[in-house]
Amino acid sequence: MLRIAVQSKGRLYDDTINLLAEADIKISQSKRTLLVQSTSFPLEVLYLRDDDIPQSVAAGVADIGIVGENELMESGEDVEVISRLGFSGCRLSLAVPKDAGYNGPEWFEGKKIATSYPNILRRFLGERGINADIHIITGSVEIAPGIGLADGIFDIVSSGSTLVSNNLSEVEVVTQSEAVLIGNKQMSDDKKEILSEMLFRFEAVRNAEDKKYVSMNAPKDRVQEIVSVLPGLKSPTIIPLADNDWCSVHTVLDQKRFWEIIGKLKELGAQGILVTPIEKMIY
Ligand code: PRP
Ligand code: ZN
Repeated sequence: MLRIAVQSKGRLYDDTINLLAEADIKISQSKRTLLVQSTSFPLEVLYLRDDDIPQSVAAGVADIGIVGENELMESGEDVEVISRLGFSGCRLSLAVPKDAGYNGPEWFEGKKIATSYPNILRRFLGERGINADIHIITGSVEIAPGIGLADGIFDIVSSGSTLVSNNLSEVEVVTQSEAVLIGNKQMSDDKKEILSEMLFRFEAVRNAEDKKYVSMNAPKDRVQEIVSVLPGLKSPTIIPLADNDWCSVHTVLDQKRFWEIIGKLKELGAQGILVTPIEKMIY
């Protein structure tokens, strides 16, 4: 049994649960106890506050965890980063009131900055020789300047709407962050085996992202031309049809080039183009 620490609520929760579900690792959502066992995979989920995840993995309370890089950096805990998950992207930025007359990082000299990420901020300021007063608060950092508690803030920015609604402007992006899968450095071989099966499934899910399964009817005399515009995995599948002048062509297309390729296929006489989402893909 492998134990994974995940955020009990908040920005990472939904994405984490979706990833597990897509990997067919079923976790009961009705039983919201601290520890829930999967009914379909040797995994148990430990729900924690995000700031507690790096430490619980480092200490071996959980074997692995899904957490924002921001929390990992802030904690400074010694864990292995197993993979970057590509979701819950955000940045950690300094922001000041719109009318503050910001003129560069030196603006913060002697100022008071509210944050939940004092360690990352201290490093940033230290590297630039700026002395500022770091005021640690754990929630609603964005209201600090408005109520006179601080001159600026250092916080997570995702869409930026929190800053806008608090009349703040983002002046320095200190670091980028996304969800990462972290692991304890001394995991047993049994656990490593479960982990590698889980990673295999995660990869199959990610490979299928942005991919579509496409099938179409093609006039036989243009099949070569049609095949030449398809990037496909290996080579497309060609299936004969009852009508001898036509055949059916099946392939996988990247979302990014989708419309461009579909346009060319239509020009070449393809008809009845069917586009289907792909759930998983194993190379
Ligand atoms: C973070 C941050 C901001 C908000 C920024 O809070 O503290 O309030 O997200 O996101 P936006 O740029 O999309 O508006 P979070 O949701 O993590 O909750 P917390 O403040 O309780 O940690
Ligand atoms: Zn938070």
